[in-house]
Amino acid sequence: MINNQQNPAWWKNAVGYQIYPKSFYDSNNDGIGDLQGIIQKIPYIKSLGVNFVWLSPFFASPNIDNGYDVSDYQDIDPQYGTLDDTFEMIRKFHENDIRVVFDLVINHTSDQHHWFKEAQKSVDNPYHDFYIWQKPKNGREPNNWVSLFGGSAWEYNPATDEYYYHLFAKQPDLNWENPKVHDAVSQIIDWWTKHGVDGFRLDAISHLKKNQSFSDVTDQEAAMNNVPGIDKFLSELSDDFKRNHLMTVGEAGGVPVTRAQQWVDSKDGYFDMIFQFDHVSFWEKFAVGKVDVAMLRKALTNWQNGLEGIGWNALFLENHDLPRAVSYFGNDRDMRRQSATALAMMYFLMKGTPFIYQGQELGMTNVDFDSIDEYRDLDSRRFYQEELAKGATKAETLFKLRSKSRDNARTPMQWTSAGGFSNHEPWIEMNPNHKMINVQDEKQNSQSVMNFYKKLTELRLTDPILLNGKYHLIDTHDHQTYVYTRESGSTGYMIITNLSDEPAGYHVPIEYQNLKLILTNQPDLQDTRAMKLQPWSAYLYKYERTTSHEINE
Ligand code: GLC
Ligand code: CA
Repeated sequence: MINNQQNPAWWKNAVGYQIYPKSFYDSNNDGIGDLQGIIQKIPYIKSLGVNFVWLSPFFASPNIDNGYDVSDYQDIDPQYGTLDDTFEMIRKFHENDIRVVFDLVINHTSDQHHWFKEAQKSVDNPYHDFYIWQKPKNGREPNNWVSLFGGSAWEYNPATDEYYYHLFAKQPDLNWENPKVHDAVSQIIDWWTKHGVDGFRLDAISHLKKNQSFSDVTDQEAAMNNVPGIDKFLSELSDDFKRNHLMTVGEAGGVPVTRAQQWVDSKDGYFDMIFQFDHVSFWEKFAVGKVDVAMLRKALTNWQNGLEGIGWNALFLENHDLPRAVSYFGNDRDMRRQSATALAMMYFLMKGTPFIYQGQELGMTNVDFDSIDEYRDLDSRRFYQEELAKGATKAETLFKLRSKSRDNARTPMQWTSAGGFSNHEPWIEMNPNHKMINVQDEKQNSQSVMNFYKKLTELRLTDPILLNGKYHLIDTHDHQTYVYTRESGSTGYMIITNLSDEPAGYHVPIEYQNLKLILTNQPDLQDTRAMKLQPWSAYLYKYERTTSHEINE
């Protein structure tokens, strides 16, 4: 029985699974994933051993940004189903002991939300102040602030001769300076709690506060992210979540670890966890390149150490905005299974709550679209047009999209060798490699990526050292390996991964004794005193230790 009041920290000993409803499973064959489709696949989700799901938005929306532009927070986009389907889905997840986390998009609404339709009409309208307005300056935009999706962040509204502010697509940002906005959002939170929701992922939450000077800036990032004064809004919101015993994970790009104490302190932090993006942001959004393992170690260790004794990490490599990990970090050409499993072990056993994004457990890869017409994501299409206008060739722009477009994560879930997502042509093309990479095959193959994730999940949920043990990096000072331990007392786990296409050497330090192999993605055991790590190999050992780090360091 699920009781969040009695078990408020359930999310610590938990593994999450993110569902992107539009691409998960289409139950009525119109080419679009839906809620009944999710319900039908609950046994599959259950079989992975995960204990909560986070669903990307499926609320009423004109779908400019695939549902991240909400026009009614208490209604469902008919392409996904109805409110009754939603309640049924929550109930059935709960019957299977799986908790349900929704996506709450409250930095902005759709311009089709009735609040905005009202707000737009006149400056005296009671909803006008729900949004952010400025008068034109010299007949133009009030300042040089840019949208994260390109171009000015301001859009003209003729009826009031004002501009409204939108950080993302033309989805007006809410004005959190107005206490009525918080009141309205509070009611939505209470309402969904009443209907059984166990938690929320807070979309774009580090952007809630805007610099009230509304003057030109030289540092756009500083103007839009984590602006001083945001704490008031976050702590008010956090009262709503605490009152309702909800789990929360904030999308907190740009929040430095030095601020993390306020955000996720286990006693009075705003949220239970945050998604930070340091380890997936080594390049510009559309740059192409390989991940530097030394930088990866540094970024992840910074958060592991930074939150130790303070708060709890959310662990992830993929989501609906990121390319597929096996293509971005790994080698999806000839070492797909090995690199998918090595990456899995690398992040999954750190301290925190791991998230799996749908299809990641199959080792799904980026997609190789050969025309812009196959892309659906507005940001990818915008990028393509802008690049061409700047003189880039189609081929080089498509090459960039292939490695970084958000659509890489949004192609339909690959259920069978025939596809298995829908009998209808899907809203976005399926990755043709579904013939090789799919749930059906992964289930049968004992060496599969899926079975590796299942083992990691089981380990993670049953071992107290993997839950609470302290993270300790063993710095290998190289550009291939990532080695760390999780330790409690003199017992611990050592996680050894070679995240490269070349063999690497590694010597286990002498103070780690009685190494016992628990899990590997390699066929054979090796000599641990002079390990020759095959490309993309991963080993989990349990050990006893003779001396403590304190003495060692
Ligand atoms: C978040 C979402 C992304 C969306 C944006 C605006 O970053 O993850 O998909 O486009 O917010 O809502
Ligand atoms: Ca459908």
